[in-house]
Amino acid sequence: MKEHEELPINLRDYFAAKAMQVLIELNPRSNRIEIAKSSYIMADAMCAIGVGMKVLIACEFSGIVREAFKARGHDAWSCDLLPTEIEGQHIQGDVLEILNDGWDLMIAHPPCTHLAVAGAAWWKEKQKNGIQQKSINFFMKLINAPINKVCVENPPGIMTKTYRKPDQYIEPYHFGHEYKKKTGLWLKNLPILLYTKIVIPESYWSQPQGMAYKNKSMKLNSTGGHRSEKIRGRTFQGIANAMAEQWG
Ligand SMILES: C[S@@+](CC[C@H](N)C(=O)[O-])C[C@H]1O[C@@H](n2cnc3c(N)ncnc32)[C@H](O)[C@@H]1O
Repeated sequence: MKEHEELPINLRDYFAAKAMQVLIELNPRSNRIEIAKSSYIMADAMCAIGVGMKVLIACEFSGIVREAFKARGHDAWSCDLLPTEIEGQHIQGDVLEILNDGWDLMIAHPPCTHLAVAGAAWWKEKQKNGIQQKSINFFMKLINAPINKVCVENPPGIMTKTYRKPDQYIEPYHFGHEYKKKTGLWLKNLPILLYTKIVIPESYWSQPQGMAYKNKSMKLNSTGGHRSEKIRGRTFQGIANAMAEQWG
């Protein structure tokens, strides 16, 4: 395995080792104890300005956002009940159990099945049997997590009423993908995500169950709008890159 392919878990040591390497190359005869001291001062400064944040991507099986942050030098972890699709730092289990583990930033993708307006026809039933309230509680535990910077994403739905409107809505076509899939971002201590590449949308990413297309001129995608739940849920690479570039 090449050196750059894997970052060690302790980024402070990693930064310090890199700094030591450079300082020794610059001055091979220098005092190694002094070099070690200076290297750790530099490593601490890098950690303090946010390089090497401890990042949690909650409810992510794809590993897409996690890898985008990792590529920028962060100690990024994904967590999902499912295994990860890309080998890497992944915790398979309940994310609620690790919210107190000292994260600097969390980006969460909680399930929208019982929250999204696309399923509003079933809300009455889901309100009666308590299923929707469970999903609302899960969403609220994520947004109120004891983490300095938080982004929770979800499509338009009940949270807009029971909690508040999102800070912004984004679409894949704002980030270089020719699809429509309106997604709200609820933010804590994070700036609005700026669009990186606006393209013309060709189709909806998925046809919401039981909902007709509002815009009839918008063509169905080649799969007839019936992509699997997993494919529909995966974060778009352009959005993941924007998050890592702007929030990392
Ligand atoms: C809409 S998908 C998000 C997928 C994500 N955008 C990605 O690219 O992998 C919601 C995910 O939340 C996960 N999930 C649900 N409850 C969870 C929990 N308590 N802890 C961790 N993950 C959970 C599900 O397994 C599902 O994969």
